[in-house]
Amino acid sequence: MIKKCLFPVAGYGTRFLPATKSMPKEMLPIVNKPLVQYGVEESIAAGLSEVGFVTGRGKRAIGDHFDLNYELEREIAGTNKEEYLTSIREVMDKGQFSFTRQTSMKGLGDAILNGRRLIGDEPFGVVLSDDLCLTEAGEDGVLTQMVKLFKQFRCSIIAIQEVPEDQVSKFGVIAGDKIKDNLYQVTDMVEKPSVEDAPSNLAIIGRYILTPDIFEILETTSPGKNGEIQITDALLEQAKNGCVMAYKFKGRRFDCGSVEGFVAATNYVFENVYNKQ
Ligand code: G1P
Repeated sequence: MIKKCLFPVAGYGTRFLPATKSMPKEMLPIVNKPLVQYGVEESIAAGLSEVGFVTGRGKRAIGDHFDLNYELEREIAGTNKEEYLTSIREVMDKGQFSFTRQTSMKGLGDAILNGRRLIGDEPFGVVLSDDLCLTEAGEDGVLTQMVKLFKQFRCSIIAIQEVPEDQVSKFGVIAGDKIKDNLYQVTDMVEKPSVEDAPSNLAIIGRYILTPDIFEILETTSPGKNGEIQITDALLEQAKNGCVMAYKFKGRRFDCGSVEGFVAATNYVFENVYNKQ
């Protein structure tokens, strides 16, 4: 089944400057855990334990985070401080990590195409770690929900959420035929449309399961919105020739690419996760 998941992590994180001047935005902590670790935990919980990062300049801290720090291990071995490493040790036990670099920022579609050498010819997940997706304890994570759907439909699945109309221009937006309450077969997709051009208020959230033919499509996808190669455009092509499903997932999503969303996520995790451990 699906074993691999790509994490495009080459972006600059300009909205968090100066914090992100020399530190990857993916390493900013939500309480005591870096944002990217939440996404990797969600991926591993869904069975996607082969994690591939599409990195860029200045992102080495991400690689170090998923590797041993011998000096630290030696210093705290046998002390009660070891418990703070429990979650990352578990991630390192269960996950395998690979890295490739995107040398120029040509968009999310280009980042995913760069990940091709880590994926090969099999279906795979994509997680945009800026989108922190949380579910209640004991409930399936968002990627787990999507893997279950993939088993049923065997085509690309994208996560969506209803957003207020005045927010549509921040997202890829879909239109689709409703299959059931929370599932649509995609008929149209537009990257960051104006309110007038938006085909609905169903916004794409940063979780995807993609079939590998997406790579061939991306090879010939022209730059779209903002002059970037957009995964949204490639997915529309896939939807026209075959099938793409959009799934309104169960769970809560925080836009940790914005300061407001980041603060909301921090407060939520502090109250509902960290304090309940
Ligand atoms: C990307 C996608 C967009 C999607 C969004 C979700 O945009 O291009 O379709 O709605 O992620 O977070 P970005 O926010 O990276 O510009």
